[in-house]
Amino acid sequence: MALPTSRRDRVIGGNWKMNLELDAALRLAGDLRGKLGSQRGARLLVFPPFPYLFPVLAKLRDSAFEVGAQDVHAKASGAFTSGVSASMVRSLGCTSVLVGHSERRSVFGDTDAIVADKLRAVLGEGLFPVFCIGETLAERQAGRTFDVLARQLTVLEAHAPAALARLVIAYEPVWAIGTGVTATPAQAQEVHAQIRGWVAGHLSAEFAARVPIQYGGSVNGDNAAALLAGPDIDGALVGGASLDVMAFSKIVLAAARP
Ligand code: PGA
Repeated sequence: MALPTSRRDRVIGGNWKMNLELDAALRLAGDLRGKLGSQRGARLLVFPPFPYLFPVLAKLRDSAFEVGAQDVHAKASGAFTSGVSASMVRSLGCTSVLVGHSERRSVFGDTDAIVADKLRAVLGEGLFPVFCIGETLAERQAGRTFDVLARQLTVLEAHAPAALARLVIAYEPVWAIGTGVTATPAQAQEVHAQIRGWVAGHLSAEFAARVPIQYGGSVNGDNAAALLAGPDIDGALVGGASLDVMAFSKIVLAAARP
């Protein structure tokens, strides 16, 4: 669909997942600051493991980077041993949270209902969600890609576009995550356009025109530019390559708008 692309934010996120010990995490944060700390032209996010949020926030303070959490519990507080609430990560200085990442859905059993509750918790704290959706290989092969994405997107309908003002959507085909197999630029662009069309139809056309949609799944320094050339591809959510400063920098430079 013909929607303006040029003024949408470019957003690059580094999802560190369950990697690195403290020294290496702080070294990575310091190196990112040194290389990209005053970068303009794209919004930069990192999602360290929970124990490193506070020291990484300190390392990246007053730089181009925002720091987000990889998950939160849906409840605000209480007897939820091991839980981390949205207010906790907000009080640290985080600005965003990954919601609905496929590893949360498939490894930890987060259902659409749980994802909806977490989305509400994140928005309730004034944090912005990086809302992740994606189909499995079996679902793609069965021709169900868009049905699955539309089902996952439905949780957004509980919120007015104004409440979702800073939402970022991340399209991450499950078969491309951590596999080294990337969607082709054409495959990614096709799905991104469908997602934007869904947002236009179910939320608003104006909101659809400005919501950034990231692609994720084996993005690296070599394939980023081709993926980001798609008119509906506004950035990348990067796992493995986000642990490598050179690779991550290449991705960021490929994304930066002049
Ligand atoms: P990957 O992970 O880049 O290692 O495939 C992406 C993600 O899960 O966000």
